[in-house]
Amino acid sequence: MGLLDHKVALITGGAQGMGASHVRKFVEEGARVVIADILVEKGQSLADELGDVAAFVELDVTQAAAWDQVIARTESTFGPVDILVNNAGIDVMKKFVDFTEADVQKMFEVNFFSQFHGMQKILPSMQKAGGGSIVNISSDEGLRPTAGNAVYSASKFAVTGLTKAVA
Ligand SMILES: NC(=O)c1ccc[n+]([C@@H]2O[C@H](COP(=O)([O-])OP(=O)(O)OC[C@H]3O[C@@H](n4cnc5c(N)ncnc54)[C@H](O)[C@@H]3O)[C@@H](O)[C@H]2O)c1
Repeated sequence: MGLLDHKVALITGGAQGMGASHVRKFVEEGARVVIADILVEKGQSLADELGDVAAFVELDVTQAAAWDQVIARTESTFGPVDILVNNAGIDVMKKFVDFTEADVQKMFEVNFFSQFHGMQKILPSMQKAGGGSIVNISSDEGLRPTAGNAVYSASKFAVTGLTKAVA
C-alpha cells in the first residue's frame, strides 16, 4: 500500500530535475500524476515511461487561463485534483546592478505568479475531491537570502509569504 493510493496529483515543472523526482516518487506511492510543463518532449517521455498512471499536459504556468484547461484535462483523465505541487521555477543569475525590470518581471511571473494562479485555480477541483494539499516549492533562498541571488531570493520570499498567509 502506498502513501498516496487513490490520490490525483498535478505537478508543475515535472518534466525534469526535482519536479521529475517528485513525479516518480508520487507514482511509486500510488498516485496518478499529471506532469505539467513547457518541455513537451521530456514531459511526454517521462509520462510514457511511467505508463497509464501518468499523463503529460503542456502548461506555461505563467498563463492564468491555461490552468483551467490543464485542470479540466486532469479531471477528465484521472478525476478531481487532491494534490498540487507548484514546482516550476527559474533562476536568472546576474549581478544585482545588471538586472533589468524585464528580468525581474519574468522571475516573479514564473516563480511567484504561477503559484498564485495555481493556488486560486485548483480550489474548485480540490473542493470536488473533498479536500486536498497544495505544496509550494520555495527555497532556502526564500528563508535566508545569500549574496548574489537577490531577485531569485525575493521571488522565493514572496512564495514563502503567500504560502504561510494562505495556509
Ligand atoms: N535545484 C535546487 O538546488 C533547488 C533548491 C531550492 C529550490 N529549488 C526550486 O525547486 C524547483 C525545481 O528546481 P530544479 O532545480 O528542478 O529546476 P529545473 O530547471 O531542473 O526544472 C524546472 C522545471 O520547471 C519548468 N518550467 C520553467 N518555466 C516554466 C513555465 N513557465 N511553465 C511550466 N514549466 C516551467 C522547466 O521546464 C523545468 O522542467 C524550482 O522552483 C526551484 O526554484 C531548487
